[in-house]
Amino acid sequence: MLSIIVAINKNRGIGFENKLLYWLPNDLKRFKALTTGHTIIMGRKTFESLPKGALPNRRNIVLSRSCHDFPGAECFHSLQEALEQCKEEEEVYIIGGASLYAEALPLADKLNITEIEDSEKEADAFFPPINSEEWKEVQRESHSTDEKHEYAYHFVDYERI
Ligand SMILES: NC(=O)c1ccc[n+]([C@@H]2O[C@H](COP(=O)([O-])OP(=O)(O)OC[C@H]3O[C@@H](n4cnc5c(N)ncnc54)[C@H](OP(=O)(O)O)[C@@H]3O)[C@@H](O)[C@H]2O)c1
Repeated sequence: MLSIIVAINKNRGIGFENKLLYWLPNDLKRFKALTTGHTIIMGRKTFESLPKGALPNRRNIVLSRSCHDFPGAECFHSLQEALEQCKEEEEVYIIGGASLYAEALPLADKLNITEIEDSEKEADAFFPPINSEEWKEVQRESHSTDEKHEYAYHFVDYERI
């Protein structure tokens, strides 16, 4: 099962200057709950943006055309090559960034999207459009703002039609 997990705003913005746009503790918790114990695949820039390096208790895979040492992670030169190495895995999550999401969307079985109710923040990295003829929403959980969450947000799951 190949899943994409991403937090997007109303403009499909996902990042700016190689950083996430939002800090939502409940989103981080959900990310951890879904991906722990499984395999995560990310682009080299996303790996470099992780504050403490490789994420614990997950098989970390980095894609780079010039693999070097990424502590705590395996590196492959293409998505195809990485997926070949994950054939035995039950759940594989694509965790970004923009270039990898665009490449993986046509291959994915599931999307775990966090939709953030904001359209103001400047972004330079975007998630591709989700085509409603290819994807159906199967679950939505909505949360309002609170003292820890500056923006309202929705956890939305899609499955391929
Ligand atoms: N909102 C979210 O949920 C979320 C999640 C993750 C990331 N982000 C954001 O996304 C932005 C980064 O996205 P990005 O597109 O600039 O960078 P990225 O996808 O993280 O990394 C791009 C790099 O990954 C490597 N790469 C990607 N696809 C490859 C492939 N098929 N084969 C081999 N190597 C491949 C290349 O590395 P080399 O140059 O080394 O060849 C490429 O330069 C940041 O702002 C980050 O904060 C947001």
